[in-house]
Amino acid sequence: MGIRKIIKKGDISLTKKSRPITEYNARLQILLNDMRDTLAEANGVGLAAPQVGVLRRAVLVADISGEEPVIYELVNPEIVEAEGEQIGPEGCLSLPNIWGQVTRPEKVKVHAFDRYGEPFELEAEGLLARACCHEIDHLNGILFDSIAERFLSEEEIEEMSQKE
Ligand code: NI
Repeated sequence: MGIRKIIKKGDISLTKKSRPITEYNARLQILLNDMRDTLAEANGVGLAAPQVGVLRRAVLVADISGEEPVIYELVNPEIVEAEGEQIGPEGCLSLPNIWGQVTRPEKVKVHAFDRYGEPFELEAEGLLARACCHEIDHLNGILFDSIAERFLSEEEIEEMSQKE
């Protein structure tokens, strides 16, 4: 297990643009393995490399619509198509206890590479589309609090956590 420390808002790494992955080497495999462990430990739905202090374009997103979560590893991801609109609450492991209403596309198509450098496309909708947008924003130094229409009150957060 390689659990890495998740950087919190205030750290300058979170505001920087990450550089592309150029080598699909052992270092990348270790990074992605550690990110998986870190995401599982934190019980999150997504994690970007800059959140563990690595300014490289790699993210994880979790599809939690099924019985078991499915984790997608996206290296050098790009949104190539976006459709529709959804408005909903969004949080971030780097901004604990803050939730905001963020507008995102309802569906996205993401072009990315797997950990071995093989290209693929991920078609995502709903929560998974939201996670893709949120994590790719991290690679550009954007945190959701800068694009949230408003923040949820403590009562609203309480209500939301009771529904889970
Ligand atoms: Ni985040």
